[in-house]
Amino acid sequence: MGVVLQEIRAIENYMVLPDEEVAARIEAARLELGSRVVILGHHYQRDDVIRHADLTGDSYQLSVMASQTEAEYIVFCGVHFMAESADILGKDSQHVILPDLGAGCSMADMATIDQVEDAWEQLREIGVLESKVAPITYMNSSAAIKAFCGRNEGVVCTSSNAIPLFDIYLKEFDKMFFFPDQHLGRNTGAKFGIPLDKMALWNPQEELGGNTEEQLHEAKLILWRGHCSVHGRFKPWHVDKVRSEIPGVQVLVHPECMREVVEISDLDGSTSFIIKTVENAPAGSKWAIGTEVNLVNRLQQRFPDKVVRLLAPDLCMCATMYRIAPQKLAWAVENLLDGNVVNEIVVENETKHFAGIALERMISMTENQKN
Ligand code: 13P
Ligand code: SF4
Repeated sequence: MGVVLQEIRAIENYMVLPDEEVAARIEAARLELGSRVVILGHHYQRDDVIRHADLTGDSYQLSVMASQTEAEYIVFCGVHFMAESADILGKDSQHVILPDLGAGCSMADMATIDQVEDAWEQLREIGVLESKVAPITYMNSSAAIKAFCGRNEGVVCTSSNAIPLFDIYLKEFDKMFFFPDQHLGRNTGAKFGIPLDKMALWNPQEELGGNTEEQLHEAKLILWRGHCSVHGRFKPWHVDKVRSEIPGVQVLVHPECMREVVEISDLDGSTSFIIKTVENAPAGSKWAIGTEVNLVNRLQQRFPDKVVRLLAPDLCMCATMYRIAPQKLAWAVENLLDGNVVNEIVVENETKHFAGIALERMISMTENQKN
């Protein structure tokens, strides 16, 4: 007798379910699936999703976790580029599931592989590639761009390891071409004392990215013109305002914020750095934090003995992360009970191979620096 195929459960039937029932059903499905499933959750996820995560972390930690888990199913409560990285780093037998395929990243969408390859060819035509140029991409980019970096001696970085990786690459290469977040690139370059006039901004809509040949030859760092719409909402006047409202407040921001904000803040660092800083701060300390609101709200709840607030008064929420509703998570895990893998993220083999080189290079360089 052949295998009896179960019909895929319809998402519409889940979207109408009340939250408590959804939470109970996710828990029941997880129990039944046991170690066959692992649920990974990025720190920016909403509370009603993060409570179901087996493991939580920033984008670097999650990529390492994905490379180490033995689970058959990796349900990724994050955004598309994170799930792609999990598929690249995971084993061939594992399935990576993104509960909502619309959970993308507007920053990652600001650089396409065609634009990046075209930019690289333009640099070649004007002779810039005769010097040693390393392409480095932020984790927040497509698998195809990661593969481009893997093929061309480059690497992937995240906000938590950008400094050690820039350190290595600035010593070994004449220049770096950094995609797609201009702010992380500029803020990290500034930490190495690179002056702003040695950082060219590449606008993919313009010939030579809107630069002269001379500017590109002179630049130490070429920055792709991309940004995060969430972190871009924090402005210098928010820093001034919070300092006037809360005497003694310390301003702590993510390096995806614009340079003008980072340079007047007290501290800047990755999502994990932000969490650790608040965890280790003394009772009574005051923090205004420039990053995603769900993370800031959880810090506020965890540390009632400290003043923790969002740097900007308006809602700085990652709308695409928010698309991973618990109803969609329930739909994904209950389908797994029937043997149906829904919303699977599969990176094509050649891209996977070269993107894997860039990601594994990132992990080994990061871990070596720690030791
Ligand atoms: P990290 O998790 O590396 O801090 O990145 C923040 C982010 O924007 C994720 O999309
Ligand atoms: Fe992308 Fe910004 Fe959302 Fe991160 S917070 S996933 S960079 S849009």
